[in-house]
Amino acid sequence: MSISIPQLPKGTRDFYPEAQRIQNYIFDTWRSTAESFAYEEYEGPMFEHLELYTGKSGEEIVSQLYNFKDKGDREIALRPEMTPTLARLVIQKARELKKPFKWFSMPRLFRYEKAQKGRLREFFQLNMDIIGTESIYAEADLMAAIATMLRKFGLKDSEFAIGVSSRKLLATYLEEIGAPNPALVYPVLDRRLKIGPEAFAKALTEAGLSETQIKQLDDFMSCKSLEEVRNAVKSENAAAALKEIEDLFETLAAAGYGDCVNLDLSIVRGLAYYTGIVFEVFDKGKSMRAIAGGGRYDSLTEKLGGERIPGVGFGMGDVVLADLLAEHKLLPSPKQSVDFYIASFTNDMKKVFETAQMFRAGGNVVSHPLAPMKMGKQLDQANYQGATIVVYVDGSKAGAGEFEYKDMRTGEMFVGNADAIVERLKTEVKKAE
Ligand code: HAM
Repeated sequence: MSISIPQLPKGTRDFYPEAQRIQNYIFDTWRSTAESFAYEEYEGPMFEHLELYTGKSGEEIVSQLYNFKDKGDREIALRPEMTPTLARLVIQKARELKKPFKWFSMPRLFRYEKAQKGRLREFFQLNMDIIGTESIYAEADLMAAIATMLRKFGLKDSEFAIGVSSRKLLATYLEEIGAPNPALVYPVLDRRLKIGPEAFAKALTEAGLSETQIKQLDDFMSCKSLEEVRNAVKSENAAAALKEIEDLFETLAAAGYGDCVNLDLSIVRGLAYYTGIVFEVFDKGKSMRAIAGGGRYDSLTEKLGGERIPGVGFGMGDVVLADLLAEHKLLPSPKQSVDFYIASFTNDMKKVFETAQMFRAGGNVVSHPLAPMKMGKQLDQANYQGATIVVYVDGSKAGAGEFEYKDMRTGEMFVGNADAIVERLKTEVKKAE
């Protein structure tokens, strides 16, 4: 009987060290940017009670849940997004948490999607959220962080765009034109550009809209400037929603992010809990799926049974981001890098371990052979592992307290004490071709 080789589940990834190094670079940049904006890191469990998602997150995400009954007969779901968990954390400590506060997390998420480019069944997402304020400057803070982060990854302002819309604005417009049942209309509006004009009109007719209303909505969602929107809407509520967007854009422009944001009323967002500003981040050509998406959710905690605490935030997925960075050749080299490789001519393993420990104490990355072997093999290993300097523990030219060492970048040999070796590591030299 033949045994079949175990297979990787569809829509998941293995992270061999090369891939993990790139993943860590993404995580490090996410974390350092979030921390530089004074967001604090939090985590939650990877699974929750199913009911945390049903009815609150929106149909699409609920249809993609990985859910099961556990051995205690409880309905459980692997988390498809972080926002409901965050809302639960907030509700649990609603009194103690000093508001407003800014938190971030980098959860591993699960969605039963049709695996395709930019979409997997298991992925990571940076989440940044601000809880406890209705101020539009919270949105400004989040968008400034997104732009800073994408610049840190090496993208130019001309290569990405944060498209901004407002559910509040859309809701007042729907009211103005007398459209029935906004809850049924939003999911259709969200799919507008994906499904094409005919299917869009058909779906809106089914949601109870007249031909005139459909035309009005289509025109409205195509507005490209605040000026155009101002001419299209009449109510005071709409004017207030517009003023908010205006403030947001002016603030971001003042901080030097004016070229990173634009009005994009075609953005609606699929999730059910958004109540105000909604936004998505795209590569400029919009050739890929959204890199990030988010918005304001002022009544989610209330929907989950807690008191009303406003929130706003976004999720940025690792998959589309890595694709985009790869396309722009902005991902770091996946090669390993080691500071020192400790070698021995006489296979004196005790001395090798002792010396490795000494160099490691200075905070350096240190490697060495794990079995006696010829010097040629040790150098091969040092090379393969990307060692900068090879330190020989028993070179015949070294005096007391000294080592022979080789700078692998230039091929030069030296003799000196540990301080001199560490100094050499810090010296920038041109790599030999
Ligand atoms: P979302 O639009 O569902 O929002 O996801 C945000 C981002 O996560 C997407 O733009 C995409 O980059 C990535 N993403 C989503 N699904 C997948 C997938 N199957 N494979 C790879 N990447 C994916 C949310 O999740 C909201 N909870 C974000 C949020 C936080 N809103 C407020 N705070």
